[in-house]
Amino acid sequence: MQTLDDLTSEIMAGVNAATSLDALEVVRIDALGKKGRVSLMMRELGGMDPEERKAAGQALNAVKDRIAAAIETRQEALSRAALDERLAAEAIDVSLPARPETEARLHPLSRTIEEVVAIFAEMGFTVAEGPDIESDYYNFTALNIPEEHPARQEHDTFYLPPNAEGRRKVLRTHTSPVQVRTMEATEPPIRIIVPGRTYRSDHDATHSPMFHQCEGLVIGDGIHMGHLKGCLIDFCRAFFGVDDLPVRFRPSYFPFTEPSAEVDIGCTRDGGGLKIGAGDDWLEILGSGMVNPRVLANCGYDPEKYQGFAFGMGIERIAMLKYGIPDLRTFYDSDLRWMRHYGFLPFDAPSVHAGLAGGSV
Ligand code: PHE
Repeated sequence: MQTLDDLTSEIMAGVNAATSLDALEVVRIDALGKKGRVSLMMRELGGMDPEERKAAGQALNAVKDRIAAAIETRQEALSRAALDERLAAEAIDVSLPARPETEARLHPLSRTIEEVVAIFAEMGFTVAEGPDIESDYYNFTALNIPEEHPARQEHDTFYLPPNAEGRRKVLRTHTSPVQVRTMEATEPPIRIIVPGRTYRSDHDATHSPMFHQCEGLVIGDGIHMGHLKGCLIDFCRAFFGVDDLPVRFRPSYFPFTEPSAEVDIGCTRDGGGLKIGAGDDWLEILGSGMVNPRVLANCGYDPEKYQGFAFGMGIERIAMLKYGIPDLRTFYDSDLRWMRHYGFLPFDAPSVHAGLAGGSV
């Protein structure tokens, strides 16, 4: 029969060799469980005479206690090791530098167009478009700017090479040709805005050879100057977010509108800074007028039956004013630092100013 010492050292070796709590439990059951090796030896005590039994019993109990203590110690060590392992595996290195920002920005021009569209959409306007390369007819003639008209020179037009008939197409100098295209294609009522690219041979801090305008056209029965004023006052206040923004209509001239008015908004200029709102100064922001009856007739409308108003504004200009961007040329530099500074996160939609509720047209 195996001696008690041999059995003990065998079990102790098993305890120390167990590398997991599960393995240790197997060792424990094998030694101290009901049918374990130590328990079996305990049973053998019954067959001994009293003297022998006492000595063997004491020895067995001591061994049992030693083994139980060793298992407990081993259990603690293994639990600690398991916890350490988990902590190491699940650790987050908070000292790791953040990943560089890769978020894109919306260009101020895109943002401004979205805002303008949102405001006019609230007033029931839809967006219309036309070609950048335009015929002389749509860009000038149909808009009551005949061949010899000085306005043709003023526009610093880019001409394309002449075609077989000697006619030269132009890069549209304004979005107004889309007025004509829309009137030719549809019947009143019309309520459109036309954001788009326009081109003039001009280049300095406030002019770029390619720039953006937004045209507006409203045609209907009984449309009058009051509609024009209400619509544009609402727009200016909503766009600049100033409820009581002063808006001034100053007589002007455009061949395609009669009467025509330049629209100014109130501002103050102190210490080189520009502040939009009530003040002692004015800023011109758009051109407007009642559609000239000649233009209506050119489009096949009866001017006795339909009237309307039109307006046109420079997108870069209103973006520069609203967002304090000093140089127009920077819009097209594709400088990422500029974009980070002036650009917009793409997920926040433009807010239409609350003052717009109950729009005017
Ligand atoms: N087309 C004009 C311009 O480019 C602006 C305008 C549009 C004026 C519509 C009146 C009506 O300057």
